[in-house]
Parts: sequence; C-alpha cells; structure tokens
Amino acid sequence: MEHHHLNLEIIPVPESDISALVELFLLVERQHEQYWPLRWALRSDIQQRYTRWITSNRANPDWLFIIAREKAVGSDARGSGDVIGGLAAAINQEIPIYQFTHYAFIHDLAVREQARRRGVGRALLDYSRQWASEKGVNQLRLMAADRNTAAKALFQKYGFQTTYSEMVLPVAPA
Ligand SMILES: CC(C)(COP(=O)(O)OP(=O)(O)OC[C@H]1O[C@@H](n2cnc3c(N)ncnc32)[C@H](O)[C@@H]1OP(=O)(O)O)[C@@H](O)C(=O)NCCC(=O)NCCS
Repeated sequence: MEHHHLNLEIIPVPESDISALVELFLLVERQHEQYWPLRWALRSDIQQRYTRWITSNRANPDWLFIIAREKAVGSDARGSGDVIGGLAAAINQEIPIYQFTHYAFIHDLAVREQARRRGVGRALLDYSRQWASEKGVNQLRLMAADRNTAAKALFQKYGFQTTYSEMVLPVAPA
C-alpha cells in the first residue's frame, strides 16, 4: 500500500518537547491499563514520574529518547510541526549466562492516532535499530501486549521474532 508521504524528522527529544513525549507515552500506558488493571493499573502521579524519568536519563548515552515530527516544507524550516511519535529505549545488561552481555530494549513506542499508518512507527524503529547497532549490541528487544494487534503487526512485519509470552496468574495477597 502506498501512503501519503511524510517528510519526517526524528531527533533526540529537546527539553521543550518532553511534556509532549510524556503525553504520548501515557496514551499507551492508559491503553494497557484498560487491557487488564491487575497487570497495568497506573499510579496517580505517573505523569510526574515519566517526566522525571526522561529528564534524568536523556543525557545518558545508554538511553535513547526520540521524537518524530513533520518537517516544515520549503526553505523556511523554522516552524517544525508537532510531536507525532516517540520512542524510549535503553541498553540493558543481560544475566551472565549468555554469550552476549548487553541488548537494546524499547520501553515505549507511540504514534499519535491521526498520524498512524504513515510509516512513523517504522521510522522510529529504524532510528533505534541504527542506535543499537552503533552501541555494539546484537539485538533489539521489546514487549508487546498480547491484545495489542496493531503493535504486534508492526513488529512482526518489521522482523521481530516472538521469543517469550509473559503469563500472569492472579494471586490473592494474604
Ligand atoms: C503500534 C503503533 C506504534 C504503529 O505506529 P504507525 O506509525 O501507525 O506504524 P507504521 O505506519 O510505521 O506501520 C508499519 C506497518 O506496520 C503494520 N501495522 C501498523 N499498524 C497496524 C494496524 N493497526 N493493523 C495492522 N497492521 C499494522 C502494517 O504492516 C504497516 O504497514 P502498512 O501501513 O504499509 O500496511 C501505533 O499504532 C500506536 O502508537 N499504537 C498505540 C501505542 C502502542 O500500542 N504502542 C506500542 C506499545 S508496545
């Protein structure tokens, strides 16, 4: 399928766009919360927590916080568009039984509803795959909720292979 072509810009999140990025990530968290509160019920101060998480880690070279926005057309590139997508990833240490020591892990990925199916998700994955490669790791991982068909479709098409399925048994706390 051919899409309306988006002139995309993917950049590390500037300070001024952290709140827009948090807003996007919260959309995904709220979606998960609806899937099953036992697994995903959120704290009431999640917005402040996300903001602190991004603010305190964005300068760390083992973390990646990027945004996508539509580039202004023509020579006047001043007014770049709104944030339409974002991704958070980190380099994690693996437990010391495998031949590799570290892997890249995508914590969050979200695209604004009005901007979906135009390749923004794919472009954010491209950037993070390149970043992971430059970090010298041999794999990029993520978790996708079983009920999240859009996300699973994107990741499968992109080339991710399913390894584990998390399984959760509710337990009554004593
Ligand atoms: C999942 C998500 C990030 C996809 O972003 P996107 O920018 O729409 O994805 P792309 O346009 O790059 O899609 C690339 C390909 O993935 C597949 N895909 C994406 N969304 C799909 C959907 N809803 N249904 C079926 N296939 C889909 C398609 O094969 C698509 O290619 P095509 O449009 O040529 O058919 C977006 O739907 C989203 O933000 N969802 C809510 C948040 C979320 O679930 N995030 C992931 C948490 S792990």
